[in-house]
Amino acid sequence: MIKISPSVLTADFLELAASLKELEAAGADMLHLDVMDGIFVPNISFGLPVIRSIKKHTSLPLDVHLMIDRPHRYIKEFAEVSDWLGFHYEAGSPVAETLKEIKGFGVKSCLTIKPKTDPREIFPYLELADMILVMSVEPGFGGQTFMPSALEKLRILKAESIKRGLDIELEIDGGINGQTARLAVDAGATVLVVGSYLFNAQNMQETVKELKSIDD
Ligand code: DX5
Ligand code: ZN
Repeated sequence: MIKISPSVLTADFLELAASLKELEAAGADMLHLDVMDGIFVPNISFGLPVIRSIKKHTSLPLDVHLMIDRPHRYIKEFAEVSDWLGFHYEAGSPVAETLKEIKGFGVKSCLTIKPKTDPREIFPYLELADMILVMSVEPGFGGQTFMPSALEKLRILKAESIKRGLDIELEIDGGINGQTARLAVDAGATVLVVGSYLFNAQNMQETVKELKSIDD
């Protein structure tokens, strides 16, 4: 069954504890946390103190998406609060070493690519990643429009992981709604990050259920 990872980027942070309970009850599988430093991406979001508070208020596994420059400088600190820890291939860190470091902390590793990156460039690292995150918008902001070019990347990554017999989650992030979710799942996505579509919905629980039933 498809996994749903709600992104809290567009949530009302003072209402977050209640939203987390709703998401748990609705069957969300993890919680996507977007960390932005204003350098790797043109926006600043939140960091470790906020994630530590969120962790106290939810039983959902935390899926941390680092959008920071040279993320290898902060792996230890983020590994302490993450269940899944992902960083960008383009962010200037030694890729294999950083993936190994994450796994060394007993945390699931995720390698993330921006829309302009050819997925074949990360083929050398597939064995070290528990998940690949394909961005379907330019990272930095919630509420953007899905880029269909992400679908071909999912297909390429799925075919390669099947060829190598790897069991890698394929996550898609950016512009996911009822329609684009279906396209992404058909192309091979196994984890959907959903931000504004979920947090702007009248009924979050119904929306999570609708998305989870896509591959039934
Ligand atoms: C964008 C973030 C996304 C964002 C998704 O840089 O990585 O996780 O919150 O938001 P939506 O679903 O609104 O595109
Ligand atoms: Zn994200």
